Amino acid sequence: LIQEIESATATTPDAVEAFRIRYLGSKNVLKPLMGEMRNIPNERKRDFGQLVNRAKQVAQEKLEALQAATATQAGADAGAKFDLTAPAEPMPLGSRHPIALTMRRIISIFERIGFTVAEGPEVEDDWHNFSAMNTPEDHPARDMQDTFYVAEGMPAGVPSSFAKNGGGTDMLLRTHTSSVQARTMESQAPPIRIIAPGRVYRNETISARSHAQFHQVEGLYIAEKVSFADMKATLLHFAREMYGDKTKIRLRPSYFPFTEPSAEMDIWWGLESEHDYRITKGTGWLEIMGCGMVDPQVLTNCGIDPEKYTGYAFGMGIERQAMLLYNITDIRLMFENDVRFLKQFSGVL
Ligand code: PHE
Repeated sequence: LIQEIESATATTPDAVEAFRIRYLGSKNVLKPLMGEMRNIPNERKRDFGQLVNRAKQVAQEKLEALQAATATQAGADAGAKFDLTAPAEPMPLGSRHPIALTMRRIISIFERIGFTVAEGPEVEDDWHNFSAMNTPEDHPARDMQDTFYVAEGMPAGVPSSFAKNGGGTDMLLRTHTSSVQARTMESQAPPIRIIAPGRVYRNETISARSHAQFHQVEGLYIAEKVSFADMKATLLHFAREMYGDKTKIRLRPSYFPFTEPSAEMDIWWGLESEHDYRITKGTGWLEIMGCGMVDPQVLTNCGIDPEKYTGYAFGMGIERQAMLLYNITDIRLMFENDVRFLKQFSGVL
């Protein structure tokens, strides 16, 4: 019997259960043997009992071995039911931010007509943000922009060459990307044809229409005999690439310390617009940028001969245009990173 138990096989859970019932169940084959005890002569009772107990123990060990073997087999069988080549659960894909989308669109329009992208630091010195741009300390135009100043000067590790005036307490968060005009003119000889996208900061009350941080794209073209007409043609081209080829523009006289003459450019966003992709309509003339001929004093400040060269510059806010393009009614949405807002741009390139 012990041999029979030891050589038993069971490859399925059912067979293992049958083994258990036969040798270890409540009516197992070993029980009647214990009943035989009274027929065994006294001097052999002890050996007989030990033999039956040994059979029980062997059956218990065998059961455990069979259970372990079939459990492994069952796992392998279950594994075979999975299709390991099936595609995984879809991963949520990100989307481009409306500011990035609008910025890329503006940049690509200017890149196609020969402008290259230039950059400058967001923590800027007074010289590049104001003084070089013809806005000295007592100039009333500084009131146009409420400035965040850096209290302790530059953080450790920033090279001192970063600040023309040696850094220190005249460091600030740039209030416009016009600071990149100054940096570019100081380091490059004309002809210069750059656009400078980036983040700017102003100490403004945050509301649906304005924010303390926003983005601009600056443009600068310096060469011989550059005229106001060149600027107007370039900006008209931009407006039509951006908003459709029937877009109308209007230049209104304005004032900036660093341009002379200065203008503000509006685009017509009227009801009779034939550009169906415009979601918002009927608001009339909308201001989208400041522009003008680079003031000769700015050229001099940055080491360019104003007798030989002229140029134009322009600067525009990106949020305003993103709001127009995508019908966004509250600028704060652009800085809150609420995925319910952001995912509406998924798939937009
Ligand atoms: N820097 C100006 C602003 O932030 C815009 C501007 C740029 C105007 C270049 C003229 C020329 O409002």
